[in-house]
This record gives sequence, C-alpha cells and structure tokens, in this order.
Amino acid sequence: MKIAVVGATGLVGSVMLKVLEEYGITDAEIIPAASAKSVGKEIKFNGKSLKVVSVEDAIAAKPDYALFSAGAGTSKTYAPLFAEAGCTVIDNSSCWRMDKNIPLVVPEINMHDVTSETKIIANPNCSTIQMVVALAPVYREYGIKRLVISTYQSVSGSGVRGIAQLKDEETAGVASAQFYPHPIHHNIIPQGGDFLSEHTLAVGGDILSEGYTGEEEKLINETRKILGNKDIRITATVTRVPVSGGHSESVNIETEKPFEIADIRALITKMDGVVVIDEPSKSEYPMPLYCEGKNEVFVGRIRRDNSAPNALNLWIVADNIRKGAATNAVQILLRLLGK
Ligand SMILES: NC(=O)c1ccc[n+]([C@@H]2O[C@H](COP(=O)([O-])OP(=O)(O)OC[C@H]3O[C@@H](n4cnc5c(N)ncnc54)[C@H](OP(=O)(O)O)[C@@H]3O)[C@@H](O)[C@H]2O)c1
Repeated sequence: MKIAVVGATGLVGSVMLKVLEEYGITDAEIIPAASAKSVGKEIKFNGKSLKVVSVEDAIAAKPDYALFSAGAGTSKTYAPLFAEAGCTVIDNSSCWRMDKNIPLVVPEINMHDVTSETKIIANPNCSTIQMVVALAPVYREYGIKRLVISTYQSVSGSGVRGIAQLKDEETAGVASAQFYPHPIHHNIIPQGGDFLSEHTLAVGGDILSEGYTGEEEKLINETRKILGNKDIRITATVTRVPVSGGHSESVNIETEKPFEIADIRALITKMDGVVVIDEPSKSEYPMPLYCEGKNEVFVGRIRRDNSAPNALNLWIVADNIRKGAATNAVQILLRLLGK
C-alpha cells in the first residue's frame, strides 16, 4: 500500500506522519510531498529517511491514499488529479468541506457518509471536529435546537506563522503584527480569519452579514453538515489566544427534549475518543496545556444552564493539530482500511 502525505513538511503533515507511526501504519510506502522549495529534503518516518518529492511525482507514484494538508489552493488543483489516478484523498483544507458531493467526516459520527464511490473525503475544521465529537451523543439522544459557541483558539491553528509571531513576541518582547493584525502575546484577538462580506448565507439560510468571520462561518456550516441537520440554530465567536497548542471552547446547548444532567454526563463519557475531566471541587477540568500531543477530546464543566429550558454548558478542549487535523484524517484512513 502506498500513502502520499501532501504537505509533509508542514505542522499538520509532520504530525500526520507521527500519527501514522503511532497507529501502526508502518508497512505502507510513504510518499512525502511538499512545495518545490522542499523537494529533496529528508524527513523521517518509522526510523527511515525519506526524500520529499513534488506533488506531480507523488501522483506519478500512484498512491492508494493521499492525506492532504497543504492549503486549499493545493487541494483544489491536485486532489482531483489524485482521484483521477485512482487514489482516495483525505483532505484537511477548507477546499471541499461544503461541496455537497463530498462527505465531511468525523469517523466516530458519520463515516456512513463515505460510499464505495467516494474519492475525496473532507476533514472538518479543527474547532468543529472537537466540538461535534462531544455534541454527537447529546444530539442523538436529545436533539439540539441551538448552540452558542465561544472559542479560545491556539496560535498553532494558524500554522507556522502564528506560532512564530507568538514566539517572537514572547522572547524578543516584540509587539508585532507580523501575521495577526495585532500582537498576540498578553492579548486575545477576537478575530479568526477574515470578516465576511455582506449577505453571506450559511447552511440553513442564516444571513451572516453582521460582522461574522470565516472561522465562525465554518463552525456553523460544518456542524450542520456533519450532524446532518441544517435547522440547528448556531451562533459563534472565535478568538485567538496566546496558547501554543490546543483549542478550548465554551459551548452552550439547548436541546429539543428535556434531559437529566447525569445522563448527559454518562452519554459524553461513553462517547468514543472523549475523556471527561470534571471534578470542580478539585479544580479538575480540561486545559490546553495538558491536552497537547493527545488524540482525545477532553470535556469538563458539564452543567445545567438554568437561564433557559433544556440548556447546558460544556467546556471542550483538544489538540487542534491532532484530533483537530492529523489524527482525525488518519482515523478516517484506518476506517477505510477496515481497522
Ligand atoms: N494548523 C491547524 O490547526 C490546522 C487544523 C486543521 C486543518 N489545517 C489545514 O491544514 C493545512 C496545512 O496547515 P499547516 O498548519 O500544517 O500549515 P503549514 O505548517 O504552513 O504547512 C503547509 C504545508 O503545505 C505545503 N505546501 C504549501 N504550498 C504548497 C504547494 N503549492 N504545493 C505543495 N505543497 C505545498 C508546505 O510545503 P513547504 O514546506 O515546502 O512550504 C507545507 O508542507 C491548511 O490547509 C490548514 O488550513 C490546519
């Protein structure tokens, strides 16, 4: 079996290689690909050195599967070429996520959206993945009417340039605006992506013209697509915080049906890939510092919201490069391989 990793030199691509090793996909021939500037560079996989090739050479090698994490432009151009060559693509970029013919998959929730005809599978946005993993069991049992989401997203979510800006500001004390529009050290930036143009319609028909950003739009649209319900009312505020790795989210949920909070806790605890850390009296709850490098989604502060009927709050944390990107993609691959 041959697996191409397109974007193998990047933040997500290099973790994909690690996760492939960790899940024991070590017999496969790995074809690492990146931009022209990296061709010929050596990367390590399973103790061996591999040479980075161009995307064209990766297609010519006829891989069975390709894991893409090289930006939407690269995915747009090359994913269909890999698919035409008989390869199944799992794409981490935003390029295909909202295409109605492409499944948007979190394997614990909607692997059934992938059919034998599927050649391109989209991996959702990092903040969407961790949230829907925690919400899915609640949605299945009680239905979800409305979500109010606030995120606290780490700089690694912006790739190497976000990390570099935080490091520079921390070490050199530079108050720069090299990547984000403001300094990020000692700061919180209430903007994720660009502000949308007027009259942007979300799935379900909401007009997101009143100052929403692209990252907020992704959370709304992708959640509705994955849960298969365009009628869930959703509002979101995305912020960028000076945390190196791990996204945190405060999510307020209104369910369709009444619930017991103990049952919600039990459902989330039983969910595949979720770890509940929720001992308020001992100050135990999920925090990004302790989630970095882990594949699970961590949930805490599970509590009823008495300000509305059938409402509750969750605090959800995960490593955005792992479950939010690389791990989710590799888990899709594992399911395709029947593992
Ligand atoms: N960071 C996250 O939390 C996260 C989460 C989910 C999804 N994603 C998505 O994953 C993708 C990569 O993100 P990242 O954070 O890993 O970025 P990154 O660290 O900047 O890495 C980008 C990778 O893409 C390669 N690349 C760039 N242009 C290319 C081209 N024209 N042809 C072939 N390869 C090209 C780069 O190769 P060179 O080294 O040769 O430049 C590098 O390997 C993006 O689409 C991003 O939206 C990121």
